[in-house]
Amino acid sequence: MAHLLRLGVLASGSGSNLQSILDACAQHRIAAEVAAVICNVPGARALQRAKEAGVPAVLLPHQEHARREEYDARLVAELRSRGVELLCLAGFMRIVTPVLLSAFPQRVLNIHPSLLPAFPGMHGVRQAIRAGVRVSGCTVHFVDEGTDCGPILVQAAVPVLEGDTEESLAARILLQEHRIYPRAIQLVAEGRVALEGQRVRISGPQGDAARTLSSPAVDEP
Ligand code: GRF
Repeated sequence: MAHLLRLGVLASGSGSNLQSILDACAQHRIAAEVAAVICNVPGARALQRAKEAGVPAVLLPHQEHARREEYDARLVAELRSRGVELLCLAGFMRIVTPVLLSAFPQRVLNIHPSLLPAFPGMHGVRQAIRAGVRVSGCTVHFVDEGTDCGPILVQAAVPVLEGDTEESLAARILLQEHRIYPRAIQLVAEGRVALEGQRVRISGPQGDAARTLSSPAVDEP
């Protein structure tokens, strides 16, 4: 059997993106397996999802570490001990430091609920509503030392509809997140992704098509 890329998933909350990754692995839609899920919040649904899927679930509360770097060193030790090759942040509500990034160079992905570089930070969906944009979406990107600003791997567009609230738009964006995160992981697993400065080059068939997913409703009036 071909090598399965060993994933580490970091989550803090509901873990619906984690679930989409677990499902894609279980259904052999991606050549990957979740080697460990690490969560910093006791009782988070993400931990339960990992257990239900039969993958190692580790609770590492950040409060026990005075400095971010110490916490990240602990994360690195845990991830290395489990042979993690690609790290996926999935609703992980912590800023990561160079301690983590240098341990996994060009091997840390994040998902964000906007079309970056628009609306980075904590409230990407709220900002999109307030700005009155007609199209928003979600982005899987490589993590660098800034906030939500590393090289962009895959995006999906989601129309903003009349009457949308932060909640209704966030829910529709989340559905697209669940499509693009497994797809982004699969591109890495296939060895098709190369970083050229701030740009990501995707080689092989349909390289351009692979980077953008439009929700079917995006062109509707
Ligand atoms: C998602 O909207 C993701 O884009 C953001 O945090 C949320 C996590 O949701 N980074 P979930 O925990 O995966 O359900």
